[in-house]
Amino acid sequence: MKHEIVEKNLGLMSILIILVISTAFLVEIVPLFFLKSVNEPVDGLEPLSALELSGRDIYIREGCHVCHTQMVRPFRAETERYGHYSVAGEFVYERPFLWGSKRTGPDLARVGGRYSDAWHRVHLYNPRDVVPESNMPAFPWLFEDKLDPEAIQPKMEAMQTLGVPYTDEQIEQAPEKVRGKYEIEALVAYLQQLGTVISTKR
Ligand code: HEC
Repeated sequence: MKHEIVEKNLGLMSILIILVISTAFLVEIVPLFFLKSVNEPVDGLEPLSALELSGRDIYIREGCHVCHTQMVRPFRAETERYGHYSVAGEFVYERPFLWGSKRTGPDLARVGGRYSDAWHRVHLYNPRDVVPESNMPAFPWLFEDKLDPEAIQPKMEAMQTLGVPYTDEQIEQAPEKVRGKYEIEALVAYLQQLGTVISTKR
């Protein structure tokens, strides 16, 4: 059998595997580098403000992305619940992506504007106070710890290096924008802008 020749010849099999993978790369991945719809920002997309960017780092630090995805898939069951499906152009300034892979809690890609700031604060202080059956952990320390104004500039500079269009002026003013602010304010500011660049009307 011809197949046996391939299976018993490691060198030949390796060459064929490499051939299959490189063809797939050429056909599936390479066109994406040139496709406008996946590497250009959607209309109105702005880099996160200094406060929102600080909030995003708290989101990562607390592991919110372990229980929450940020990716509405183009299926009716998802769009009816969460709003417009996610599009690539919304994520061009995201470093790293927080799409996630597990939904212990609901998707958060379009949570911006769905609840008031006050709701988020109560919910993060103790989720059971607003959703009695919730098994989300409480994050009370966010109300005690303040942001470090020294930390924001290097973060924004790193983002700038990665291609996020922060201006030098924005970076210069950043420490003043976060000085004296509590971590909860940054996290809520981050949550409130999620997914709002595309209409979430349902
Ligand atoms: C152990 C898993 C887990 C972790 C970690 C977690 N959550 Fe949740 N989250 C849930 C569950 C379950 C729900 C649904 C019940 C509820 O609303 O409390 C939820 C609900 C939410 C909601 C309401 C979403 C909606 O559409 O109603 C928000 C906002 C939210 N979480 C934000 C966060 C943030 C911010 C963090 C990190 C600071 C976080 N969560 C960490 C499990 C988690």
